[in-house]
Amino acid sequence: MNKRAERKIEHIQHALSTGQKRSNGFNDLTFVHQSLPNLSISNIDLSTTVGELTLSSPIFINAMTGGGGEDTVIINEALANAAKETNIAIAVGSQMSAIKDNRERPSYEVMRRVNKNGVIFANLGSEASVDQAKAAISMIEANAIQIHLNVVQELVMPEGDRDFTNAMNRIEKIVNEIEVPVIVKEVGFGMNREVARQLIDIGVTAIDVGGYGGTNFSQIENKRRKQVLSYFDEWGITTAASIAEVNSTGKDISILGSGGIQTSLDLAKAIALGASASGVAGYLLKIFIEKGYDDLVLEIKNMLEDLTFIMTALGTKTIIELQKAPIVIGGSTHHWLTERGIDTKRFSNR
Ligand SMILES: Cc1cc2nc3c(=O)[nH]c(=O)nc-3n(C[C@H](O)[C@H](O)[C@H](O)COP(=O)(O)O)c2cc1C
Repeated sequence: MNKRAERKIEHIQHALSTGQKRSNGFNDLTFVHQSLPNLSISNIDLSTTVGELTLSSPIFINAMTGGGGEDTVIINEALANAAKETNIAIAVGSQMSAIKDNRERPSYEVMRRVNKNGVIFANLGSEASVDQAKAAISMIEANAIQIHLNVVQELVMPEGDRDFTNAMNRIEKIVNEIEVPVIVKEVGFGMNREVARQLIDIGVTAIDVGGYGGTNFSQIENKRRKQVLSYFDEWGITTAASIAEVNSTGKDISILGSGGIQTSLDLAKAIALGASASGVAGYLLKIFIEKGYDDLVLEIKNMLEDLTFIMTALGTKTIIELQKAPIVIGGSTHHWLTERGIDTKRFSNR
């Protein structure tokens, strides 16, 4: 197994052992209860849009793996089957390994093979060229491409990148020359509104905030190095604060509210802050590896059902209505947003 493939396997092992931090900020948020929702559960419509893409529900399986030999073929086959069975979108992990080494293609191609008509996102880092982005999309006939930003992960990764110049120029070229929607995502360190504005200005379709509080790639990479950079373990903007940051740009952009999503209540709160959908990564991977395929499918189905219950209680028939549900922000998320000049009353009094 080559070094890159070994790294993919180590990421999975360390993601499982470090787990989810549960400090995504959503505990600071409380929905304003509605005693007269005037809705039946059968009225609920979970469909949502990400740019020009329509998704049947606001949950998707976020980018995780591929390029780690047979083990990652098995994982990606199961994730793609689960996405198909529950009719949700799914992203592959970074395809750079298959672009550099054809022998790694099967672990990505398997997703399209088992999920012919599903919505699948390609994935590459911001070091990718336009040609590499085109190759990643055609490899899996992707409906969109995610470009990940992971500076802190690379810094902590012993063999990681050290030069982060010109990422924005490369992303802009991809946006201009690629026909499918371009989603720019973080991987668990969150996104601020200034970066979001720059991305919106160059025309990205969606921003996945990949907020702090779930899978922690500083901890994961620290497990792979001798001299630990522990100061990055608590580094990042929580998922809740990140969504509000991007939302506060006031620009027309699809926000994906990922990072530490484990429950439908997390998801509903992400949507109330302005997200159109949220990806779930580490939490679902753990269920599949530790409990198996049937439990994975059951968990996704339960999450979808729970979301309909929550939306019924709130009297919000659609995702667009849920985006306007009043929600009170307290605790450190309130402090963060206030310090950043973001008015929390916009969310609580509406
Ligand atoms: C094992 C593992 C591998 C990952 N690999 C990638 C990747 O290749 N590309 C990427 O954009 N994100 C990758 N991620 C990050 C996730 O897509 C997501 O942004 C992050 O884990 C935060 O979400 P979570 O808390 O739901 O896990 C990976 C996550 C895990 C757990």
